[in-house]
Amino acid sequence: MIIAVDGPAASGKGTLAAGLAAHYRLPHLDTGLLYRAVGLAVGDAVGTPQFEARAIAAARGLDAAHLTDLAQLTGDAASTLASQVAVIAEVRVALRQYQRDFAHQPGGAVIDGRDIGTVVCPDADVKLFIEADSKARMERRARQFELKGLVVDRYALYHQIEERDARDRANPYGGFYPAPDAHLLDTTRLDIEAALRAAVAIVDGVMAKKAKQ
Ligand code: C5P
Repeated sequence: MIIAVDGPAASGKGTLAAGLAAHYRLPHLDTGLLYRAVGLAVGDAVGTPQFEARAIAAARGLDAAHLTDLAQLTGDAASTLASQVAVIAEVRVALRQYQRDFAHQPGGAVIDGRDIGTVVCPDADVKLFIEADSKARMERRARQFELKGLVVDRYALYHQIEERDARDRANPYGGFYPAPDAHLLDTTRLDIEAALRAAVAIVDGVMAKKAKQ
């Protein structure tokens, strides 16, 4: 079974995808990490004429070994760099096969990102599109940073999330919109447990319907 989970920054899709993976005992890939790793690899080239070519080369050379330093990959700098390399079409193409191979391993997988249901795995068994209002998303991200002991400027964080979303949604190569067969799940007023229960109910419902066909 392949479960695709898409949604904007800090919507809770990563936590939800990890919860679904544990529930159904499936491997999980957070595809944002791939873009973050490519972004970090070319952080010193931002604004230079080499930026694009270096990002493409980094994407083509990416493997699992680049995805281990979670502290750095999930930091603030990596988020912005990720969305800067994500607008380069060849970067997306280079990362696509890695994501498809992961999703199509025997038994399937849970895979989360922005374009999983639309571009990476249009054949996924179940597609979820996670939403939450911008203020709730900012507050969740702020708490994550505070748990790491960081001081958070909520005003700046709110604008940073809005700016990243705008760039992601405007990305002509992004595929960042709900697939026609995606199930929308708004987590604004749900805690993690309630969101996971709602997601499991959707997955079980879709799979039960498929079994009858
Ligand atoms: O999901 P996360 O916030 O870690 O993603 C970081 C950035 O990587 C996103 O803002 C987006 O620009 C890019 N991304 C993407 N497609 C994906 C996953 C992430 O364009 N499937």
